[in-house]
Parts: sequence; C-alpha cells; structure tokens
Amino acid sequence: MKTIKQLIATKLCEGIAALGAPTTPDVADLVAMLEYPPDEAMGDLALPCFKLSRTLRRAPVQIAVALCEALNGLEVIERAEAVNGYLNITVARSYLVDNVLSGILAAGEHYGAGNEGQGKTVVLDYSSPNVAKPFHIGHLGTTVIGHSLKKLHEFAGYKCVGINYLGDWGTQFGKLIVAYKKWGSREMIEEGGIDKLVELYVMINNAISGNEEKGIQADPALGDAARAEFRKLEEGDEENLALWRWFIDISLAEYEKTYKQLGITFDSYKGESFYTDKMPAEVQKLRDKGLLKIDDGASIVDLQPYGMPPCLILKRDGSTLYPTRDIAAAVYRKNEYKFDKAIYVTSAGQSLHFAQWFKVVELMGYDWHDQLVHVPYGTVSINGAKLATRTGNVVLLKDLFRAAIDEVSRIMAEKNPDLAGKEEIAEAVGVGAIVFYYLSGSRIKDINFVMEDALNFDGNTGPYVQYTYARTCSVLRRAEALDGQQAALAITAPDEATLLKVLAKFPEKVSAAIAEYEPSVITRYILDVCAAFNRFYHNCQIIGATDPAVRATRVAITRATNVVLGNAFPLICLKTMEQI
Ligand code: ARG
Repeated sequence: MKTIKQLIATKLCEGIAALGAPTTPDVADLVAMLEYPPDEAMGDLALPCFKLSRTLRRAPVQIAVALCEALNGLEVIERAEAVNGYLNITVARSYLVDNVLSGILAAGEHYGAGNEGQGKTVVLDYSSPNVAKPFHIGHLGTTVIGHSLKKLHEFAGYKCVGINYLGDWGTQFGKLIVAYKKWGSREMIEEGGIDKLVELYVMINNAISGNEEKGIQADPALGDAARAEFRKLEEGDEENLALWRWFIDISLAEYEKTYKQLGITFDSYKGESFYTDKMPAEVQKLRDKGLLKIDDGASIVDLQPYGMPPCLILKRDGSTLYPTRDIAAAVYRKNEYKFDKAIYVTSAGQSLHFAQWFKVVELMGYDWHDQLVHVPYGTVSINGAKLATRTGNVVLLKDLFRAAIDEVSRIMAEKNPDLAGKEEIAEAVGVGAIVFYYLSGSRIKDINFVMEDALNFDGNTGPYVQYTYARTCSVLRRAEALDGQQAALAITAPDEATLLKVLAKFPEKVSAAIAEYEPSVITRYILDVCAAFNRFYHNCQIIGATDPAVRATRVAITRATNVVLGNAFPLICLKTMEQI
C-alpha cells in the first residue's frame, strides 16, 4: 500500500516534469519535502515550494500554482490551494475511509511493515553485560534500544540476528576465583546466586585496592593471585574452567529473568571468550599489512592521521584488548552471517572505541567497514537514593523493575482490586512504564528517572498507552456482542478524520525510526495515536451511536487503532494487555 505522501508525491512529480526543467526531483525527494502543517486549518500536508525554486528555476508562487493544477482530480485529495508559495493539501475523507481504514484492517498485523529489508541481513550486538559484574541501569539503554532496533528491522523485512556479546572473559574472573576460594562456598553461591557473586566481586576489589571509607587496607598480593588464577584459566586449568562456566551459568539464569520481563530473546550468546582463538589471525593480518607499530612495548595502530588516539591491539605482555576482540568478532560475524549491516548499541562513552576499531577494519582492507554502525545513547540517573543496592551506588536493573512493579501493584489494588491475573499485569505495566519512559526521549540525551512520572497513569506514560490499548479492546468486545449489520462506512465527525490521519502515518514512522536508529520515534507516535483516539472516544459515541453506519464506522476506526497500537507496542518492548 502506498502512503498518502507517496501518492501525492507521484502526482507532483508528473506536474514537475511538465514544467520542463533540466533536472527534476524524484518521488522520494518530494515525500521528504512534504510537511505536516502545525495547524489543520492550513490543510493536512504542505509543500514549501521555495525548496524547488532553484532546481525548477521558477518563483515559489509560480510553482505552487502550477502544482496545484497538477493535483486536480487526484482521488486522495479533497482540495489543494496555492498560498504564498506554499501548496496546501487537504486529504479526502472518502480516501481516509476507503483506503486508509480498509487498508489497515486488511493488512492487520502487517500494517506498517515495510519491505525495505527484503533479502538483507542485520546483525545486532546489544545488552552484552559483563558477567559477574552488576547488571545495572546503565545496561537498560543497550538492552531496550537494541531490542527495539531488532524488532523494527524485522518488521521492515530484514533477517535479524540478535547477539548478546557477553563480557565472559578477562581478569575479573581471576579476581572472582580468588574471592570464591577465600570467602565463598558452593552452597553460598547456589543459594545467593548472582547477588553473592557480585558481593564477592565487590569484596575482592575493595581488598585489592583498599577502601578508606570502610577502613580496608590495600592488599596487592591478592591482585597478583587474581592474575595468576586468570592465567591458569587461559591455560585451560580444569578446576578454574569449571568455576568460570558455573559463574556464567548463574549469571545467565539471572539475566534471563530480566529478558523475559522485557520479552527479549537472543539468537546468539557468543561472548568475548569465543573469540580468543580468532584473534591471532587478525593480529597477523595487521602485522602483514604493516599497520602495527610498537609503542613502549605495546602493539598499536596509529590513528593520528584520522584525528584519533592510537588503537591498542596488544599489551606489552602480548595479551589482547577490547578492540582486538571486537575486530575478530566482526570478521567472524561477516563470514558467518554475511550481514548487510552490523549494529552495535552501547553508551556514548564507548563512541571513540568504535570509531577507532571501525577505522582499523577499514585500514585492514575489509570492504564492508562501512556496514558497521555504532548506535550510542546517553547516561541514566535516578532520583532519590531509595533504589541504591548493597553494592553501593549502582542501581541494579532488576531492582528498578521490582520497584516499579510493586508500585503498580499498589495502585492496582486501589483502582481495580478484582482484576484477574493481577501479578502478570502488574509486571507488564511496571516494566513497560520504565521502558516507555526510557524510550520517550532521543536516545542520545541523558535521562533522569523520576519514578512517579514514569508510573503516572494520567501522564504520557507506558501505563497510559497500555490503558488506551485496553480501552480499544473493551470497545471491540462490546461491539462483538452487537448484531453485525452491514453498513456503508463514512466519516461524519472531525475527530474520526483526525484519528485516521494519525493512523495513516504509521508506515513512515517505522521507516524514520529505522533510518535514524531511534525507537523514540515510535514511542512519540504511540502517544499521538493515543491522544487522537482518546479525543475521538470522548467526543464520539461509538457503541452508543444510533445510526448503524456511524456506529459501524466508529467500531472500524477503533479496530484500526487497536491494530496500529498492537503492531507498534512490540517495536518498543511494550506488552499489550486486553485489560488493566
Ligand atoms: N560488555 C561491554 C560493556 O558492558 C559492552 C559490549 C558492547 N559490544 C561490543 N561489541 N563491544 O561495556
């Protein structure tokens, strides 16, 4: 189904061709030029013709008049007017009913899905926590932005591979093994799970570096012991390998709980450890190409010509580093998945790291270097110290979710005590509130969590939009109980038309969210849909309408809203519930 903008742009192109200019814009250019006027009185779409005056070598006013004529008779529009170099277009109500509304209902769960990704593969690297270190709110961004981007790409027809690149290798395991042998026991970890592991990890770090506040003296010998244990692990020591695997299993089991709450699954859990034996070949390639320089014993790639500090490949002792592993992983993924795009979602703090190793991949001569995309996001902070955990100043993701779920349970017990399946609903609403709040703003902006705002049922929040979805379900349930009289659909109220025009925008919002790697485009769009639906709901009688044609039209519009929200929610990791 072509969008309204595309239909109009196609016709405008014909009009432009008739003007006989040497170069002319194409349909996509015109789609991009069409704007939504701030005020509906100016029409539904506007073309600022000054944008064309250079290419067409004509005054904007002249262009507006000529194109106004060209649109004559186009089914999708009711009228076009040339006003001061603007072409103002009003969409035909009949088109909204005969094409938009029926198109949404016919497409159902596919409405809004593009096909731009057909035959293409995208690999997404996201969440990727560091095992045995806390899974904290800093990981919320990579986890939900990453999964949203995956859902968006899938929706547009891409084949997607979601990779959880676990931080499952490194000296932290040496530390953990020392701590476990010194203070831990099997029963203790079996009982306490990941919390105990993190506790041991914090203890050993304090012991190695000292902690003045807690009156702990630094003990460097423990640092040596940790390095020795890690070396044993690298050399394949059975006991240490078994401990390492066990620590990972325990951590994964815990992450899975959080992923389940978010409805997230991964296609691969190949973490950093998987690439150990894949790095030497890339290091050799760097050497062969003459890219490696020795600097104070370490091997680096000089990036000064590109305005960046050097990329570290090997430490003085020959051990590999974070960039080395990322390079090997990218090569492996290219061979394994033949991706057209590889997306990495991390905090903006890692932007330089990605810029550096992307450059190194380019210098190595891999022609797919420009298919690597880093998607950064801002920092997260939280109001109030209430959520602080015993690990000190970090807030664990699961504690944030727990707090939201508890608060929703409390509100629901007041508002709707008899609701069936309360616990499941409280979880979906609580977690959804956090996700929605998080994904409301542009990803790059820093965000401060205010729990009351995120959970406000009357604000622009997750609970509000989930409630609106449930409201459409309830209208549709009541509609089903009525006898299904056939009636010709027609628009009779302005709020019906306004809502349909918002629903018509869904496909272009999906494309924009993908093009900008920006799930918040969908979050904000969902708010637009909910605002338009609730206005329609309050101003127009739906089930109560006496005229069967009016009622049938309004029920159909409600169904279309239900389809759009139902398709949009999963794109931002939000669950749909028929009742709240
Ligand atoms: N484990 C890393 C961290 O928590 C994130 C990994 C991001 N992905 C990558 N390919 N480097 O900081």
